[in-house]
Amino acid sequence: MTLDQDHVAALFAQRFGEAPRWVVRAPGRVNLIGEHTDYNGGFVLPLAIDRAIWIALRPRPDRSVLVHSLDYNEEAAFSLDTLAKGEQPWAEYLKGTAWSLADAGFALSGWEGIVAGDVPLGAGLSSSAALEMATARAFAAVSGLPWDPPAMALLGQRAENRWVGVQCGIMDQLASASGRAGCALLIDCRSLHTTAVPFPRGVAVVVLDTATRRGLADSAYNERRAQCEAAAALFGVEFLRDVTREAFRRRAEELDDATRRRARHVVTENERTLRAAEAMQREDLTSLGQLLNNSHESLRDDFEVSCPALDAMVEAAQAHPSCHGARMTGAGFGGCAVAVIDAAGSDDFTRTVAAQYQLATGHVPSLYVCQATDGASVVVGD
Ligand code: GLA
Repeated sequence: MTLDQDHVAALFAQRFGEAPRWVVRAPGRVNLIGEHTDYNGGFVLPLAIDRAIWIALRPRPDRSVLVHSLDYNEEAAFSLDTLAKGEQPWAEYLKGTAWSLADAGFALSGWEGIVAGDVPLGAGLSSSAALEMATARAFAAVSGLPWDPPAMALLGQRAENRWVGVQCGIMDQLASASGRAGCALLIDCRSLHTTAVPFPRGVAVVVLDTATRRGLADSAYNERRAQCEAAAALFGVEFLRDVTREAFRRRAEELDDATRRRARHVVTENERTLRAAEAMQREDLTSLGQLLNNSHESLRDDFEVSCPALDAMVEAAQAHPSCHGARMTGAGFGGCAVAVIDAAGSDDFTRTVAAQYQLATGHVPSLYVCQATDGASVVVGD
């Protein structure tokens, strides 16, 4: 089911007997290229997508937050005065965001409402970051806080790192906060400087969900981060982003085989990401596609975060005549791939690739053309 603001407002009205004071929306994201580069201070090129988390709310006179989740059919309640961990994993993203905002010195007000979303959960489309950014947007509305997307993205990331306990980088929250309709965002993850890069006309971005979910992802993710840090230390820099291809070549022999390949992925992926943004700007879809394909190979062979299902999906996508390029997207080990294709061929592409993938793996995938949307915003109310 896909949602919109009227639907979410109607669901609020059913429950609370009046229209919501605000409806806020924060999108999921898909990353075109620049994978496992954000925590290396490097470059990423994601887009915010037309799948989002919505919160419809009204203020409360006290300092409580009461939320009903339509996706989990559960109610969560917490006090802003005594924030503590609880037993409902989805509510921890709301509490963690409240903690992070309060810890940054913002005075928060209580509210009640409903949360609903159409970002598939655990698929690598950043449903968690969308929930954090929607929560931050809701608190900003009800508490009269200034809305500064990069600052809010950092606080969302802090909630995830410190409250939820996942050591993610900044890409997901920043894409959800700062997305631009019709554009991908080239983000420098060290300075957080963001450049909107418009999609050439006639191009479609397809999300290809393998219907497999990442197992073991957290430990493997942390291991990759540690290997990247070890490699950066050898090169005497804080982030691998500062290692050029030349510098890498000179000292690569000093790294053990796995660490060398991890570092090679990051060094080459940063280059590919910058080149991909340039290729988009000059509407060179052949180069853009090739860079996506190369990124997949590097993630599969050097960074080792792909899996048989993702490889099968990417192969099926790349074989289609409408496809410019395809790769796994997000942390890896399952979840989604992304393809850039000619929009005119999208019906045949989704049908053919889905059938081929199913034949190869036995999994029933979902493929959809997605639109690049704006980042977190208030869609009803002011
Ligand atoms: C996850 C993390 C991001 C990023 C990607 C890999 O989505 O949340 O910060 O590291 O993996 O590019």
